[in-house]
Amino acid sequence: MRNEVVLITGANGEIGHGLIKALAQRNGTQIVALDLRPLDESLIPCCDRFIQGDILDSMLLGRLMAEYDITTIYHLASILSTKAEYNPETAHKINVEGTLNLLRLGVELSTWQGSSVKFIYPSSIAVYGLPDLETKKQEGKIKEWMWCTPITMYGCNKLYCENLGKYYTKYYRQLAKDRSKHSIDFRCIRFPGLISAETIPTGGTSDYGPEMLHGAAKGEHYACFVRPDTRIPFMVMPDAIKSLLLIESAPRESITQSVYNVSSFSPSAKDIYDIVRQAYPDADITFDVDAQRQRIVDSWPEDCDDSAALHDWEWKPDYDMQRSFDEYLLPAIKNLYKPIV
Ligand code: SER
Repeated sequence: MRNEVVLITGANGEIGHGLIKALAQRNGTQIVALDLRPLDESLIPCCDRFIQGDILDSMLLGRLMAEYDITTIYHLASILSTKAEYNPETAHKINVEGTLNLLRLGVELSTWQGSSVKFIYPSSIAVYGLPDLETKKQEGKIKEWMWCTPITMYGCNKLYCENLGKYYTKYYRQLAKDRSKHSIDFRCIRFPGLISAETIPTGGTSDYGPEMLHGAAKGEHYACFVRPDTRIPFMVMPDAIKSLLLIESAPRESITQSVYNVSSFSPSAKDIYDIVRQAYPDADITFDVDAQRQRIVDSWPEDCDDSAALHDWEWKPDYDMQRSFDEYLLPAIKNLYKPIV
């Protein structure tokens, strides 16, 4: 008998770290992890198998299909918004072609196994594109269908892949004669900027939040690349993981849409500065605006309406801003950077 496993792409990334550790604590979940780089040592004991490889390698994905019964795919691998702007076509390849490969794997596995493979996909506030600061202020919390007019390659990629997921779940093969009863069960969460106590993001535009905090904890100078009044939603990693696990385990009949906002707190960059300076009074933080990156975050909403997630799968964050810092970020970060004696 083939082993039933959960496949996680982008295993070494920030969400991968949190998710793998959380899944490993669940009895009976076997994890196959995939990443371009060697797996972080702390994750090795949590995984049943690690494959160093590329999501663009269809031979590799074919081999996975032959070896495992994959019940759920968490497709986390992607190139974030700032990095994608430096090389948009490469980002498109990884973010779109890579996702298409995984969707196809999910579809083929669903047919082969005779049951729908769950496809859990993290999307982003980058799919939104508000035209100016006045509109951003006026709109406040925005719903999933509003302002889906992204201004970055990453945002375009995520929005398109959300639609691909919906296509493969609802419409694929409807016209074809070889219609199979089973396709994927695509479920997507649009994340705000994420802050982890364990890892620092690379190549994102919400990175100023986590970078400011980790920089202060390490005693390094940090030049924040957005204006102090910049406001976008953020969430700490434990809540992000909670939302992924909740949407994955929600009964199919309670899922009324394929894409959901989740939200937690919406600080300005100055609010983050203040709370970091409270914890590290000597923190050396300056504001040195990067016009391109500022333009990107100015196009993202101030906050997201996550009432659909609350209604459909009882989503509620555990951490507001104060609790995030007091009970999760600061204690864990102090421990992470404590001097070795
Ligand atoms: N954190 C992502 C980025 O900055 C947005 O979801 O690209």
